[in-house]
This record gives sequence, structure tokens and C-alpha cells, in this order.
Amino acid sequence: MTDKAIPGPADPAFVANEEPARTPVAQPDFQAVVGARYPRRAILRGGLGLAIGSLFAGLQGPVRAGEQGPGKTSGLLGFKAVPVSRADTAVVPPGYRVQVLLPWGEPITGSYPAFSPGNSGAEQAMQMGAHHDGMHFFPLAGSSREGLLVLNHEYAEPRLMHRVAAGLALGSYDVPLREDGSRDPDQVLKEMHAHGVSIVRIRRGDDGQWRPLRDPLNRRITALTPMLFSGPLRGDPRLQTAYSPDGTRGRGTLNNCAHGVTPWGTYLTCEENWRYYFVREQGEMPASLSRYGVGPLNAWRWHLAAANAGEEAAQYARFDATPRADSPLRDFRNEPHAFGWVVEIDPFDPASTPVKRTHLGRFAHEGVVFAPVREGEPVVLYSGDDAMFEYIYKFVSARPYHAATASGSLLDEGTLYAARFDSDGSGEWLELAPGANGLGPENGFASLADVLLNTRGAADVAGATPMDRPEWGAVDPATGQLYFTLTKNTRRSVGQAAGANPRAENTMGQIVRWREAGNDHAASTFAWELFLLAGDADSGRDLQGKPLDAANLLANPDGLWFDADRRLWIQTDISDEVQNRGPYRPMGNNAMLAADPDTGELRRFFTGPPGAEITGVVTTPDQTTLFVNVQHPGASTAAEDFAAGRWDSHWPGSGSSVPRSATVVITREDGGKIGA
Ligand code: FEO
Ligand code: CA
Ligand code: CA
Ligand code: CA
Repeated sequence: MTDKAIPGPADPAFVANEEPARTPVAQPDFQAVVGARYPRRAILRGGLGLAIGSLFAGLQGPVRAGEQGPGKTSGLLGFKAVPVSRADTAVVPPGYRVQVLLPWGEPITGSYPAFSPGNSGAEQAMQMGAHHDGMHFFPLAGSSREGLLVLNHEYAEPRLMHRVAAGLALGSYDVPLREDGSRDPDQVLKEMHAHGVSIVRIRRGDDGQWRPLRDPLNRRITALTPMLFSGPLRGDPRLQTAYSPDGTRGRGTLNNCAHGVTPWGTYLTCEENWRYYFVREQGEMPASLSRYGVGPLNAWRWHLAAANAGEEAAQYARFDATPRADSPLRDFRNEPHAFGWVVEIDPFDPASTPVKRTHLGRFAHEGVVFAPVREGEPVVLYSGDDAMFEYIYKFVSARPYHAATASGSLLDEGTLYAARFDSDGSGEWLELAPGANGLGPENGFASLADVLLNTRGAADVAGATPMDRPEWGAVDPATGQLYFTLTKNTRRSVGQAAGANPRAENTMGQIVRWREAGNDHAASTFAWELFLLAGDADSGRDLQGKPLDAANLLANPDGLWFDADRRLWIQTDISDEVQNRGPYRPMGNNAMLAADPDTGELRRFFTGPPGAEITGVVTTPDQTTLFVNVQHPGASTAAEDFAAGRWDSHWPGSGSSVPRSATVVITREDGGKIGA
């Protein structure tokens, strides 16, 4: 049996890196935008004025040159800005150096099989996964020279993973099919094992180089690793499958985008675009599937390997969620309910079973960020749902935090809220529970389990504000203010542009920040303002309302993280198929910038290779080593160029080598703090 190229993508929304548009409910009207009182501290005057002015067509004023040039020092940003780059390399400021660590395929466990593009599915399970994303460094005994690097593998690029793909006209999201339309089981197994999470012990040598250690703590978690459910959905009939007739267990984690770190030292991995793995060809469609876009189109088509997989057929067939038997224990109609969760992993216990914490809601979780904990007070965390017109959520634990006893069980009881951003700069947290905010049996929310299984639908009913694709959140360690990136929303109409989502056809994205009432993270109201409008010198504005310039123009903010000194690190994810094209031409390759949260000063620190997104950022405790991920270098290569061997990137190698996602380690030649 030979493989062949498929004629085209299975699901255009997947290729566009976007969810299909839905019609949002309860949009503020345009007059409300015009009459709105803009942010309380009157920041972003120019930016918002221009954003609103542009809605009136032709009112946009002349663009002034930025007053702060590249290289000007601030108290917080001590590095010289790097220019926009279109080169196939990673660029850092003068005085900094880069090292590539743990690329896709690097062996980390088991028999440590060496990387080769022809590795088998079984070998991939002992190697670093693909598409490095959210990441944390867990120091060992507080060390800044040794620790566990834990990182997500969001997805994979099949054309780079299977020898049979060489010379075929495949796009970066295409999968090779056999002539009979089936998929090869080992290819699919390899893709499953390229997903998930890696845990690797790393150490800095006396030569300054970081290296992985062969260590019993090293671990791969994949799309096949056994998982437990906890919280209100544990044991729910809608989680019952042949694999787990009592609805308490599941297999694997998928599309692990960003992450969170709990106050008790565990790692949370977040399941984002899980719906692209499932098909539902017919049958009654519950809202817990339809509201998430599950349908007859499926990008990955892992279920097509089942026919040739023998005794292992179920591990592939489970991605076909069509009701085909007379019981959910004999088909896979409930399998999609096992995804869309936040998963807790104890990186220091390699025998532990990851736990899906269902009280944190089910959606396309980008990541999780915790408010600073205080002894005796509830634990509070925030999470965004990354799809157009989706929401930002907050969870407040029922039980108080006590450092001596805190554990993941704190996440199993509490209250989930969705955010409403009003155009006057105020906001309210809307409780998502039966009996609150219109939620009840009459609209499908008779129980808390109903609310959590269809969290999106519950937030619709409650009247949350549809946002421009919420991505990462971050908490200012000094002020407690929350920041969230809103990466873009090209389908927002003029009539839908308002408040925290002020631009129609929003190609560039923005960053919103807010302060909880009384600086109490458990509060029910907040005050918000815009921190940044991404864009070029015409459309981008910083906190002072000044146009962005050569040192800081950016598009599609995504990754977001505060270091201990309050540098706000901002990472960009311009989709690979539009990078360096049209309105994104001025931004070049994706980048990471640093901002001063008080002044809004913003400066580009790092640029990656073509096709890649920059994501995942953390430092050692002493801030002298920074880890950042380069995801899917070369994914911008068109299908015909792939076939001809004309690839946009070979990073981190050169010549004709296969591009590989990898972690970049950034240090200073003088050993100082990164960014200072
Ligand atoms: Fe996986 Fe929303 O980025
Ligand atoms: Ca992201
Ligand atoms: Ca991405
Ligand atoms: Ca993104």
C-alpha cells in the first residue's frame, strides 16, 4: 500500500488557526462605543481615539514618530532593541547569547532512541514531543543551575514526521493518507506521542551550557497517557466510555497550549483546540459538542487508522464520536467530553496519574494564571478561551489556602465565573452555577455538571462579553493587576467593536488589564483599561497613546509573563500562513518583546525563524537564564515548496535539515539578569 497526498485540507478553520465564527450574543451597540467613558486613568487616549475615529472613516489623524527610539534605556528595560527580522535564525540583543535545547525528537527517556525523521511511533514516546509551547522551570532546591523543565507539545507537523511525506505536496496541517483513504497506524501513533507534555531534568554546566540529564524524573505524557477526572464531572454518565464505564478515567491529553503553575508546586497543562481531533458524522448533537464546533470535519483523522490497527483499534477509533452502537459503552460518542479541561501533573512524581480538574470548566483553554495566594484566603485563577468571541473565566476556590496542606483538591470545589467587560471601564464577574444569571433546567443547566460540560453555553446565557480570542494571562507581582492578551478577531464587525474589543476586523490584537475591586482577587467587580493596541506605526498604540515604532511594532500578542522584576514579556503568534504578508509584512518573523507595566515602554528582545511562533517563557530564580520556545519553524512553507524541498526554515539546523521546534536558552555574556 502506498501513501499519497490528500487533495486539500480537511477543515479550513483549522488551517486558518481559527475557530469557525459563531454569532455572539448580547453585543453592545455602536452608539454605546461612541459614548463610552474610556479607561479610568485616561490612558491610551490617542490609541482609542484613533480606533474609534477609524470607525467614522477618514478621521484618523497623522501619525507621529515615536519619541522613544530603540536602545533608549529605562529603569526596567536595559537592552538594545533587536530589529524586525526575516532571517532563518534566532536573534537576541548585543551582549546576549543563545543555545538550542531539547528540540523535537531529542531522546529523554526509556532506551533514548536517537532522533531521525524516520523514528517510529514507539520511539517518539521516548523523545521530546513536537511544537513546544507553555513551559515552566521547577528549580531543584531553589537552584538556578538545575531543575525540571516542563513543557507542552501543542500539536505536530505530520509532513515532517513521516518519511513517506517527502516530495509530496503537503501543507503544514495535512496528513498523508493511504490510497484507500485510511491512515497508517504507526504514523498516527507517532503523532499521538508527539503531543502532550515533556518533563526533563536539566543542569547548567561550568561552561555555561544547559544539558538534559538521563534521570528517573524524565517523563513523557502523551495522547495515550491514562488520566483521572476529578471535580463535579467525575463519574458523570457523559464521561462514561468503554475505557472507563464508571466515567472516572480517560486516555491522554491533547493540544496542550499554555500552562499554569499551582501555588503548591504542580504543573497545569491546558487542552486548547481538541475539537479538531474528533468527527461526529451524524446523530443527535448535544450542545456539549455543537457549541464547541465538533462536526463532520476533522483535521487529524486519527480515527482512519483504526481499520488497520488490530487489537489497538480503539485507541484510534475513539476519535470518531459518531453514535454507532446502542450504548455509549460500545461507541465513542462521549470521548470528546474527555477533552477541553485543565490537567494537573506532579512533575516530581513520575508514577503519578495526571488529573483533569473539571471545576475549571471545559473550553479551548489557552492557559491558567493564579493570583498570588494568601494564607487562609481562597485560591483564585484565571483562564481564557481562545476562539473568536469567546470569554475570560475566573475560578475562586470554596476552601481557603493553607500552605502546609494545599493540593489540587482545592480546584475541585468553588465557583466559576465569566467576565463581562462594560464599555465604561467597569466589569463584572458572572457566576456560572445553576440558579445564577439565568442558568437553569429550562436552558439545559440543571446541574453544576451541566454548566461545566458546556461552559461556553453557560457563559452565553449569563451574558459574558465575547472577546477577541483570549490567550495568556499574567499577574503583576507588585500591583496584582491582571493582564490578558487578545490575539485578534478578524470577524468582529463595526457594530460589534466596543470597550475592551474596540476594533472591527481586528487583525492585530490588543492587551487588556484590570484591577479587581478592593484589590481582592475574589471580588465580583473590576476596573479595566487597555494596555496596548498591537499593530504597525499606523494602527499600533502604546500605553501613552503613542504610535508603535521600529523598536516595538508587533502583531497578535499571545504569550504573556511577568518576571520577578515586573518586566512584562509579550510573545507574538502571527499565523504561519500570513507571516510576512499583507498587514503583517512590517512585523517580520514572530518575536518576543518586554514592556514596563508602569510607563508602557515596549521593546523587541528576540526574533525567531520564519514560520515559527514564539511561545513559553520563564527564567531561573536568579533571572540569569531565560527559556523560550520556538514552535513550528518553517510551517509557512507552501505545499508545492515543501514538495520541491524549498523550505522556509531549517532552524535550528542548516542546509537541508528538518526544522524542529525547540527551547532556546538565553543568557548574558556578563552573567547578568535577563532584560535588565
Ligand atoms: Fe495555542 Fe491560543 O494558542
Ligand atoms: Ca498560544
Ligand atoms: Ca499557534
Ligand atoms: Ca495563538
